[in-house]
Amino acid sequence: MSLSQETVTAVKKTIPLVGKNAEKITTRMYEILFSKYPETKPLFANAQSDQHKKLAGAIAAFAANIDNLDALSAAVEKMANTHVQTKVKPEHYPMVADALITAMGDVLGDDFTDEYKQAWVEAYTFLANILMQREKELYSQQNS
Ligand code: HEM
Repeated sequence: MSLSQETVTAVKKTIPLVGKNAEKITTRMYEILFSKYPETKPLFANAQSDQHKKLAGAIAAFAANIDNLDALSAAVEKMANTHVQTKVKPEHYPMVADALITAMGDVLGDDFTDEYKQAWVEAYTFLANILMQREKELYSQQNS
């Protein structure tokens, strides 16, 4: 499975805009996430790295390299391992999706067109599926 060229092109076009506003988007995202989905809060209780503060950046960087999945495997492995350590589960992914896409709309306003929004939802879903698959394997290894 792969993302369509249209999606990759649209997400790539937003990278400068998202990059410039990454901190605002992330701050807004956590505001939404923790108020709307308070059950996600404990997962971040022992947050060690500030990498996750760059979630939008991480997804944009991923999208920029989407045509070269091999280059991303180390990053995916690191994210999946951190997620398993912090007990991220599949049911959390739609919550982060909602918070992230809503935050992007709040911060970017009219610049976040329907076309860009759709492309981001697709790119997020694609990456989420890769992460959930790897996390499922890691969880089952823990239990064996
Ligand atoms: C496609 C979606 C996601 C991406 C791209 C992503 C990306 C990342 C990255 C890059 C890190 C830092 C990894 C490291 O350096 O070790 C991280 C950590 C983390 N992520 Fe995610 N993540 C996603 C979804 C989620 C979801 C759904 C949750 C659950 C609410 C979540 C919770 C966390 C937590 C708790 C950490 C550790 C935070 C810390 O220690 O500072 N992530 N994620």
